[in-house]
Amino acid sequence: MDDRPIGVFDSGIGGLTVLKEIMEQLPGEDIVYFGDTARIPYGTRSKETVIKYFFQSVRFLLTKEIKAIVVACNTASALAMEEAQKVFDVPILGVIEPGAKAAVSATRNSVIGVIGTEGTINSQSYQRKIRKMLPSAEIIGIPCPLFVPIVEEGWESTDVAFITAKKYLLELKEHNIDSLVLGCTHYPALRYTINKVLGDKVTMVNPAYETAKAGKIMLKEKGLLSSKLDGGKYHYYVSDDPEKFKRIGGNILRKEIASVQKVNIENL
Ligand code: DGL
Repeated sequence: MDDRPIGVFDSGIGGLTVLKEIMEQLPGEDIVYFGDTARIPYGTRSKETVIKYFFQSVRFLLTKEIKAIVVACNTASALAMEEAQKVFDVPILGVIEPGAKAAVSATRNSVIGVIGTEGTINSQSYQRKIRKMLPSAEIIGIPCPLFVPIVEEGWESTDVAFITAKKYLLELKEHNIDSLVLGCTHYPALRYTINKVLGDKVTMVNPAYETAKAGKIMLKEKGLLSSKLDGGKYHYYVSDDPEKFKRIGGNILRKEIASVQKVNIENL
C-alpha cells in the first residue's frame, strides 16, 4: 500500500476527462493534476519541444512526492513518454496503449480509424500499437488540428464543428471503418457531431476509461494502491490563469474545483 498521490498530466484542461475516470475507478487515491495551460497546444509542436515541456512537467510533479504519473495527454504520450520512462525513476502510464487495446476489442471488421493531433497521428504511435495487437488491421489515421480550438471555444455542437468534421472524416466513411479512436483529450466533446457524420455503425473509443483501468492494474501490480477506499484528495496546478481552469474544469468534472495554483514551469 502506498498513500502518496498519483500525478496526472495534460497540456491543459482536456486531461480532466481522464482524471474523472480515475476518480471514479480509484476513489481512494489522492491526485495532483498539472495542466500546462500556458503552453497548450502541444499537438502542433515538434517532438523536441513536447519532450522539453513534458520533462519540465514531470519534474514539477516529482516535487509533489507522487508515486506514479498518468499522462492524460495523447500528444505527450505519443511523443515524449518513452523518453521520459528512460530518464525518470517513476512508473509512467500513457493513454496510447490502453486506447489501442480498446480499439482492438471494439472492432469486428479490423478497419479502425484513429483521429488526433498532428503530433499524435504523425508519430504513428496508435497505428503501431494497434498493429502489434492485431496484425491484420487496416488503420486510417487522420490529424484533425482544428478540433482542439473548436472545443476550446465551446463550439462542439455548432455548424462549424459539423462542417469541419465532415471535411476531416468523410474519408473514414469511404474506408468503411467500424471503430474510431478519439485520440485526443478534446475529442470526446465532439462525439455527437462525429456521430452525425459517421453514423451509428461506428463505435467510438475513448481511451480515458481504459487508461484509468490500466492505471488501477499498474498500481495493484506494483503494490502502490492507496490504503483508502474512498475520500481521495485532489490538488490542481496550471501554468496559466487558474480562474479559467477552475470554471471550465468544473464543467468537465461536474464538481467544483475549489482551488488551483499557478506554477512557474519554465524554471524547472
Ligand atoms: N491534450 C492534447 C492531446 O490529447 C490536445 C491539446 C494539445 O494539442 O495540446 O493530444
